[in-house]
Amino acid sequence: MRAIQIDRFGPPDVLGLVEAPRPEPGPGEVLILTVATSINPVDDKTREGAIGEGTPPLPMTLGWDLAGIVVDGGDSGLRAGDRVIAMSHQLSSARGTWADLVALPAKSVAAAPQAISLNEAATLPLPGLTAWQTLDWLAVSAGERLLIAGASGAVGGLALQIARARGVEVDALVSRDAQVAFAHDQGAGVVTTDRRTLRDRGYDAVFDTFGAFVTEAVADGGRYASIATQAGPVPDLSVRGVRTTVNQVREDGAALNELTELVDRGSLRPRVHSTFGLHEIQAAHERFRQGGLTGKITVTF
Ligand SMILES: NC(=O)c1ccc[n+]([C@@H]2O[C@H](COP(=O)([O-])OP(=O)(O)OC[C@H]3O[C@@H](n4cnc5c(N)ncnc54)[C@H](OP(=O)(O)O)[C@@H]3O)[C@@H](O)[C@H]2O)c1
Repeated sequence: MRAIQIDRFGPPDVLGLVEAPRPEPGPGEVLILTVATSINPVDDKTREGAIGEGTPPLPMTLGWDLAGIVVDGGDSGLRAGDRVIAMSHQLSSARGTWADLVALPAKSVAAAPQAISLNEAATLPLPGLTAWQTLDWLAVSAGERLLIAGASGAVGGLALQIARARGVEVDALVSRDAQVAFAHDQGAGVVTTDRRTLRDRGYDAVFDTFGAFVTEAVADGGRYASIATQAGPVPDLSVRGVRTTVNQVREDGAALNELTELVDRGSLRPRVHSTFGLHEIQAAHERFRQGGLTGKITVTF
């Protein structure tokens, strides 16, 4: 089968399309034929060698997101032909999804939404789970006020829609004027590109997707979650009674099923910026690195 691997770290031209052995699913695992995947910041950092300790050994197959068709459901209840989505925690398991066939634990796999294509669905797993799990940690409830920093990014854009579906009032910090309309369209109230205009201690919770550390915006006694691991820890706000975390995404088929339901209800819309073929993986990474995206870059098999 085909796989996208690296045998050294570096710019996009280290990415190679190689022949790799077909994986054999173990007990409790599902074998999936990949239809589409997407590029996440972690893939870019892994390829560059920026992750450091904890990176799987070389050569390695990259990729976290997966949308595809079940080939062998084992005893999972999934059947051959089912459309599914999954996230593989590639850094901890070394099971990259950028391969024709991927074997994953059944509990990491969920039904794909019916309302969208598998290409669109491939944008959901890693950013969607990160958004879902971080909102769960923040425990924002209907009527509470949430600030999302980076609300037009992959994770932030989904978090905004999920939070609105949960009845939360959301304001947004975005990077560019072009992103303001998107955030309003998704139901954000106040949207700003200027952090100095944020309400001082005005938010029950802050979801920080890029290491903004807008700590003055969170109310005393509130919650502050960052997902920007490489920006370091959130400053200690315990004197103000603020709980803080840097949240790490986990494989979670049950939460993926919740995301699928939201999509099929029309409450969550993924955004595809552009789509590349597998043989164009280097060009796809080059485009990803240029930035200025309005949605995810997907790769089809
Ligand atoms: N901890 C975890 O488990 C986990 C999981 C997923 C992602 N992450 C990390 O979280 C980060 C976000 O991931 P993502 O996939 O959402 O990336 P993304 O799609 O690039 O989104 C980041 C967003 O933040 C915006 N932004 C960056 N700097 C800004 C600034 N100074 N002011 C306002 N907005 C700014 C970006 O705007 P522009 O488009 O204009 O740059 C973009 O909209 C990445 O660093 C990723 O590695 C961590």
